[in-house]
Amino acid sequence: MTELAQHKDVAEQLAPEVLPEYIASNVLDGAAREEAISMMRRLAAHVRNKTTDQAPGNFQEPVENYADEELFRSEVELLFKRIPLPLALSVELPEKNSYRAIEAVGVPVVLTRDARGEVHAMLNICRHRGALICGEGRGSTRALTCPYHAWSYGLDGELKGVYGESTFGEFDKSDRGLIQLPVVEAAGLIFVCLTPGLQIDIDAWLGDFKPVLESLKLDQCHIFSSRMMPGPNWKVVIEGYLEGYHFASLHPNTVGKSNFSNTAIFDGFGAHERVAFALRNLENHLDDPEETWDPSANVGPIIWLFPGMAFAGSWRERMTCSLVLPTTKVDASITEQRVITRTPVTPDDVPDLEIFRDFFYDVTYGEDYITGYGVQKGVRNVGGTTQLYGRNEPGVQYVHQTINRLMKENFTEGHVLPREA
Ligand code: FES
Ligand SMILES: [Fe+2]
Repeated sequence: MTELAQHKDVAEQLAPEVLPEYIASNVLDGAAREEAISMMRRLAAHVRNKTTDQAPGNFQEPVENYADEELFRSEVELLFKRIPLPLALSVELPEKNSYRAIEAVGVPVVLTRDARGEVHAMLNICRHRGALICGEGRGSTRALTCPYHAWSYGLDGELKGVYGESTFGEFDKSDRGLIQLPVVEAAGLIFVCLTPGLQIDIDAWLGDFKPVLESLKLDQCHIFSSRMMPGPNWKVVIEGYLEGYHFASLHPNTVGKSNFSNTAIFDGFGAHERVAFALRNLENHLDDPEETWDPSANVGPIIWLFPGMAFAGSWRERMTCSLVLPTTKVDASITEQRVITRTPVTPDDVPDLEIFRDFFYDVTYGEDYITGYGVQKGVRNVGGTTQLYGRNEPGVQYVHQTINRLMKENFTEGHVLPREA
């Protein structure tokens, strides 16, 4: 069976039958509500006029940008190893003495919250002979113990115990702690830089996007589930989160039922961006007084943190958070898709939440990513041409312009963000 036939099979198996219920929340207040009302006002005008936010012109990128090995290695070195990556939500390390191990762009990382509540990020690599210390996942512990010869480390990375120490021979234990990575906690997220010794300036990196992120109140949320999803090249994947031009054609029985197609607003915030779609429900409220508007039931924002974290359904009771990262191969990415709730999950909520979780997994993988695998095959088999991004795809244009800008700045100046320590 060819790759394309396999993909078609998967898509057919995953086609969701039940649409999950969208549940509004009361997370919006003060300035965040005003901002959301202004977004709803812009979307209402687009629904009335059958328009959408537009970039000044079209934009193009060579197709090779999605398949070129050398460019991919530069993206990993200049982007993914130099900028702060949101590798966890703060609520995933909720307690003192907890850890989370994750692989990011092929680098094994362990995040910990120590006995004083302080967060650390370290390479998950033993300083004896390099074994992986923790398997992927999270848990509670007071020490990280290597499975190979049982060396143990404190949650701050200090080497504490060497099995059979009297037989091992003398060495400086203080020089054999786990290798520390720069880490900062902000807006309910834990940001890690994969290059030791760099310094994260999180306020400079988030800029005016920080209040947008903070309005999600991530530090008060609860994680219901987390699933890994393979995908094609990371840029092929992220494009799908940043436009609603494809809703009617690719998602006629799913997202296209709840969202208008090709009806969106776009705002850029430094490297980050927000794209919001008009929900079909908005059509019922066009003439209502604005004081009665509920943006959480009528606006579908994607709050998007560079280089690949998308919060969808951001102001509702239930949302998804997808973190897209490259693997070590140009044509493969990995997405961690989480379902997040605003109120603690009770046993009664579980069946509905499972439907919600499966719906978004099935739509994202079975519709978007399967289409992305086709794009990947396409770009591998045409040369000397370009991808063309329309005026109605400003979010996609913006992310490519941001990638190009940061690649150039990080290459020519050695660094932009974070700055060298
Ligand atoms: S490699 Fe970890 S204890 Fe030997
Ligand atoms: Fe999609």
